[in-house]
Amino acid sequence: MASLEFSNISFAYIDTQPVLKQIDLELCSNEIVGILGPNGAGKSTLLRIANGLLRPQSGEVLLNNQDITKQVTSRLAGQIIVTFQFTRQQFFASTVEKELRTTLTLHEEDKSQQIHLLESLITQFGLNMLRDHHPYTLSGGEQRRLAMAIAMAVPATFFLLDEPTANADQEALIFLSKILRKMKTEGKGVMIVSHDIEFQLALCDRLIILIDGSIQFIGTPVDIINTQKKKKWNFFEIPEIYPFIQRLEREGSHPDLLKSYVAEKDFENKFTMISNILGEK
Ligand SMILES: Nc1ncnc2c1ncn2[C@@H]1O[C@H](COP(=O)(O)OP(=O)(O)OP(=O)(O)O)[C@@H](O)[C@H]1O
Ligand SMILES: [Mg+2]
Repeated sequence: MASLEFSNISFAYIDTQPVLKQIDLELCSNEIVGILGPNGAGKSTLLRIANGLLRPQSGEVLLNNQDITKQVTSRLAGQIIVTFQFTRQQFFASTVEKELRTTLTLHEEDKSQQIHLLESLITQFGLNMLRDHHPYTLSGGEQRRLAMAIAMAVPATFFLLDEPTANADQEALIFLSKILRKMKTEGKGVMIVSHDIEFQLALCDRLIILIDGSIQFIGTPVDIINTQKKKKWNFFEIPEIYPFIQRLEREGSHPDLLKSYVAEKDFENKFTMISNILGEK
């Protein structure tokens, strides 16, 4: 199993103002880890450190136990993908198709395979009508789709995604969730920064709470739900469905309902699960 580890990472943009403080965190292949934290907590900074865009003042980033902190970003590009919170920062070509082509050319030598992958990504991410458009003219949600398609064009092991849920409508969220779960089954490690708590609870195996540059909590979605009952954190609220499920659980006929609901990663199946229970009543 592959691993990406942040070991005792500290970072400051300005010497007197630490942004990350002694971060210890591991991401394995086959797992989806979510990062939750208020604005300015240091989430995007942490991701930029993973692919060498920023260098920590102290600590190491280890890829399969090897320190990569001093490697240049381009050498890590085939192994660790980091998508940007502000998608425009990553686009440089004049059309959607060229943008994808450029990435594919870097990672796939075989020309016919390049074309096959290009068409498959364009179809999968619903970009066909937009292929000749300039990336900057795409809507927010379309830019996110393009950014994900570019990320998927790289045969990397670790994907660190900065707010992939921003601008996404319900259909896009379900699509994204399916893609990320598929990546996990293919042995990829995924880290997601997102303010969409519902999405994070539904998808992630583990959640990390980062506040003011420090990790405050690491746990499963069920751990987070149970801890947040005491209103421990004020930057997010547990969606109403979860207390409702716990009430159903307490009523007695469905022990461990919360656990099974969280374990079910398919949104449609989650819905069916609850509808069936309500139907019984
Ligand atoms: N280039 C920079 N120069 C100086 N300070 C910066 C720079 N980039 C970020 N910061 C500061 O570092 C802190 C962490 O920023 P970061 O972007 O990592 O937060 P975040 O957790 O991703 O927040 P958000 O949820 O708003 O995206 C913030 O206080 C921010 O103002
Ligand atoms: Mg951010």
